[in-house]
Amino acid sequence: TKTHRIAVIPGDGIGKETVPEGLRVLDAAARRFGFDLALTHYDWSCETYEKTGKMMPDDGIDQLRDSESVFLGAVGWPGVPDHISLWGLLIPIRRQFDQYVSLRPCKLLPGSKTPLANRTPAEIDFYVVRENTEGEYSSVGGRMFPGTEREFVSQQSILTRIGTDRIIKYAFELAMKRPRKKLTSATKSNGITFTMPYWDERFAEMGKSYPEVTTDQFHIDILCAHFVQHPDWFDVVVGSNLFGDILSDLGPAVAGSIGIAASANINPEKNHPSMFEPVHGSAPDIAGKFICNPIGQIWSGAMMLDHLGEPEAAKAITTAIEKLLAEGGPRTRDMGGQAGTEDVGRAIAEAVAAS
Ligand code: NAD
Ligand code: IPM
Ligand code: MN
Repeated sequence: TKTHRIAVIPGDGIGKETVPEGLRVLDAAARRFGFDLALTHYDWSCETYEKTGKMMPDDGIDQLRDSESVFLGAVGWPGVPDHISLWGLLIPIRRQFDQYVSLRPCKLLPGSKTPLANRTPAEIDFYVVRENTEGEYSSVGGRMFPGTEREFVSQQSILTRIGTDRIIKYAFELAMKRPRKKLTSATKSNGITFTMPYWDERFAEMGKSYPEVTTDQFHIDILCAHFVQHPDWFDVVVGSNLFGDILSDLGPAVAGSIGIAASANINPEKNHPSMFEPVHGSAPDIAGKFICNPIGQIWSGAMMLDHLGEPEAAKAITTAIEKLLAEGGPRTRDMGGQAGTEDVGRAIAEAVAAS
């Protein structure tokens, strides 16, 4: 039987509650579809930082290198500044493994409730494709003259031609695989004078190679409004690192709950491991109670199996999630239920086993 090598990093807060449920469902899928998972567990987290002054060991990235993929919970906990915890663990993995695509589905599942009036599942079903290695997150800049009147900070946003073209190309390719073949670009070329006109230019250029794809573009501000007022307009939406970040919390929110939102950090060339994690964070406000929604994590596990070449198993998981919601199965508080994290995980694992 085939064995997939997975590095598991629960991280902080509810990551420690959602990852075990993700693994429970992955294990059920492995048994049902006849493959093995070789898991290596890493306890890297803000607790590691408190003990050692580092989020992960100096050779942390090398330790992950042999895995086919990384299955991550969430990173960040009060007491450790967010830019230290995230830049000590999550972001280096994305960048050093060149996981330049952040793929984030936004899908209203039957039986789950959208805050938008009168919207049906057929009307909210799109992907956010987020650039994941550069742009606004480039970390070039600094603070000068600290503590003086002349103090200032600056941060550059860097778009490389390679980085811009490859994410836009991925989005066009994804659009080609969808029935509507529609791609929307998030821009802000009215206010941001160098990077965003460049983004628009590369988008238009790439579009010439995909005449079958219908394209449009909106400035990020009105695009946010359209997500709420016209979610049915969207099929695939591509954006820079920060715009994609914002849209990928807004999209799942209009689709019901950030707790169900999944994401894949993909290195499409498979030169390096890809990473699968929910969109949400460590939720310190509800952590420790086992009331968080594990579906974002479980769905991320399905995206991981798809990437590993187990599409049937992936489909069984997403079908089980859809069935659970459509048939009124256990659901957590964020979706209007009373069930615990483990109840939802068990129900989905059982459905996968029985599929
Ligand atoms: P968050 O996603 O952790 O929480 C936002 C709100 O959504 C909270 O009210 C929380 O209770 C709720 N929520 C989130 N996930 C949920 C789930 N699965 N079920 C039910 N409710 C859920 O965002 P935040 O509060 O901005 O960030 C908290 C910490 O997590 C910070 O340290 C932040 O930097 C970090 N963070 C990490 C990631 C990541 O690891 N990818 C993503 C976002 C935030
Ligand atoms: C996400 C998160 C991260 C990001 C943070 C925690 C650095 O919000 O995965 O969406 O901005 O990429
Ligand atoms: Mn985010």
